[in-house]
Amino acid sequence: MRRPIIAGNWKMNKTVPEAVRLAKQIKLLVEEDARERVEVVLCPPFTALHAVGEVLQDSAVKLGAQNVHDQPKGAYTGEVSVPMLKDLGCEYVILGHSERRAYFGETDEMVNRKAKAALSRDLGVIICVGETLHEKREGRTEEVVRTQVRGALAGLEPARPEQLVIAYEPVWAIGTGENATGSEANDVIAMIRRLVGELLGADTAEAVRIQYGGSVKPENIKSFLTQSDIDGALVGGASLEAASFAEIVKG
Ligand code: 13P
Repeated sequence: MRRPIIAGNWKMNKTVPEAVRLAKQIKLLVEEDARERVEVVLCPPFTALHAVGEVLQDSAVKLGAQNVHDQPKGAYTGEVSVPMLKDLGCEYVILGHSERRAYFGETDEMVNRKAKAALSRDLGVIICVGETLHEKREGRTEEVVRTQVRGALAGLEPARPEQLVIAYEPVWAIGTGENATGSEANDVIAMIRRLVGELLGADTAEAVRIQYGGSVKPENIKSFLTQSDIDGALVGGASLEAASFAEIVKG
């Protein structure tokens, strides 16, 4: 059985004191769920990782980052490496978020290099894929998502398949309040799982968690978690408020 994984992507929000306060509140509300039932990951901005990591030190709630460079160190001004994230206690890193693809030119090839760098150093990855509204309207969802998944997973050999998480986040559903329906998301996610099977083998496909992301709220989380292939959620806006994120964790 796959353990569901709910991750909060805080994006570029929260100063250190704000982040510490939010992490403390979330920890209080979801600690039992995180110990028993569901993997919970908080992904604050880089600047708050250390402080939030301290809050989560004795907690089952895990720490994640929102991006990483593929090289372990060197002359890459402004970048952060896998060993640096591991050093802070990160267990996951989000890769290829549509905002990084759209605003920072991140490609499938870059996502692939980052995924290899992370997994080879025992850092879990949450790889984001998803089509734009334009692509959806042209009926190209499957083609676009397949290309992204193939690109991201090329040559990947995850030693621990539970460290490979894929987030299906239709771009048109991010921050818009307009979510995909549970069955719409499940169809794409089941397709992704079949593709993972072709690329990495049936055992890996069975173990890999695939989340839905895009306007997930307490009111709609059930419609996703009750689907056969959806193993959790990547939550943006609703993860910035402890009560709503906790409600989502509780399903
Ligand atoms: P929202 O939940 O705000 O739509 O954001 C989704 C997202 O981008 C998570 O990575």
